[in-house]
Amino acid sequence: MAEMKTIIITGANSGLGFATAEKIAEQTEDYQVILACRNKEKAEKAKNDLIERTGNRNIIDLDLDTSSIKSVRNFVKQYQELGLPQIDGLICNAGISGSHTGLTSDGFDIIFETNHLGHYLLTTLLLPCMSESARIMVISSDMHNPPGRQLSWTGTPALAKPDEKLADKGMRYSYSKLCNLYFTYELAHRLEYIESTITVNAFNPGYMTDTNFMPNIPVSFFVKLMDRNGSLSDSSTALAKLMTENAYGNISGNYYDRSTEAIEFSELSYHKENALELWNMSAVYTKLVRDETLPKLLNNPNFYGWGPS
Ligand SMILES: NC(=O)c1ccc[n+]([C@@H]2O[C@H](COP(=O)([O-])OP(=O)(O)OC[C@H]3O[C@@H](n4cnc5c(N)ncnc54)[C@H](OP(=O)(O)O)[C@@H]3O)[C@@H](O)[C@H]2O)c1
Repeated sequence: MAEMKTIIITGANSGLGFATAEKIAEQTEDYQVILACRNKEKAEKAKNDLIERTGNRNIIDLDLDTSSIKSVRNFVKQYQELGLPQIDGLICNAGISGSHTGLTSDGFDIIFETNHLGHYLLTTLLLPCMSESARIMVISSDMHNPPGRQLSWTGTPALAKPDEKLADKGMRYSYSKLCNLYFTYELAHRLEYIESTITVNAFNPGYMTDTNFMPNIPVSFFVKLMDRNGSLSDSSTALAKLMTENAYGNISGNYYDRSTEAIEFSELSYHKENALELWNMSAVYTKLVRDETLPKLLNNPNFYGWGPS
C-alpha cells in the first residue's frame, strides 16, 4: 500500500477549494484531505458530499477562520493535539472579494487579513509540521495587476489599516492578491536559502463565474475580462495535478496561470524590497516568533530578502 498523503485546503466548502478537494480525493484513498473552513455546518456538508462523490472516507474538516489570528493559532494547536499526520500539501485558497469592507477583530482590513495575513501565519506555523516534500500553493489572481489601472506599492501599513484614499474596494482586493505573490516569492527564496525542500508556488485560477465568489456580477465586468477568463473545471484539475503529480514536486517560486503552465506576470509582483517589507510587517502583526516556525526562517542575520546581500 502507498503511503498516506495529507493535504489541507483552506476555504474548501465551495468553489475552487471544493472542486480541487474532489479531484484530489477521487484519485485514491491514500490522499487524506483536510477541509479548513470557517463555517462548521458548510464544512460538514462539504465533507459528506465529498465522501459520497469520491468514495474516499479520508476527509475531515477542521475550524479555521483566516480573518482571525486566534482562530489560525487554534487551528495549528488543534492539528498538533489531534496527532494528525505530517502535511504533504497546503492550498491557501480561502478568500473574499473586493465588496467586503471594515476591520477584523484584530483591527486589520478584512480583505488584507482574510486573503493574506491569515495565510501568512497559518503557513509559517504549519511549516514545522510539513514533510520534506510538502507543496504549498497560494491562490492569487491576475487581478493583482488589474486591467487599465496600475497599482503602486503603498507600503504594508496602508493596506493593513487603509485610510480613505484606499477605500476603493476593488483596489484592496487587488493589493491582497499582490500580497499573496510577495508572500509566495519571499517564502520560496527563504526556503531555498535555508536548504528546505518544501516548495511554494502561486496559482491564478482566472475569472470563474461558477463559484460563490462574486454573485450578481454585471455583464459589463465579464466582457472587460474576456482574456482573463478561467474555468472552475480546468483550474481545479490543474491545481490537483500541481499538488499531486511527481512532475511538479521540486519546483518553487512559480506563477501558474489557469493551468500547469508557469508564466511571468507583472513586474511589480517581483519587487524584492516590497516583498521583504510585507514579510517583516506580517511577522510583527501576527507576533510570529522564531521558535514557532522553521529554524532560521526568521531573524536570520545572514539573510536579506531574497538571498544573502
Ligand atoms: N472566482 C473568481 O473569479 C476568482 C478569480 C481569481 C482568483 N480567485 C481566488 O480563488 C479563491 C477561491 O475563490 P472561489 O472563486 O472558489 O470563491 P468561493 O466559492 O466564494 O470560495 C471561497 C472560500 O473561501 C472561504 N472563506 C472566505 N473567508 C474565509 C475566512 N475568513 N476563513 C476561512 N474561509 C473563508 C469561503 O467560505 P464561506 O462559504 O464560509 O464563505 C469559501 O469556502 C480565492 O482566493 C479567490 O481570491 C477567484
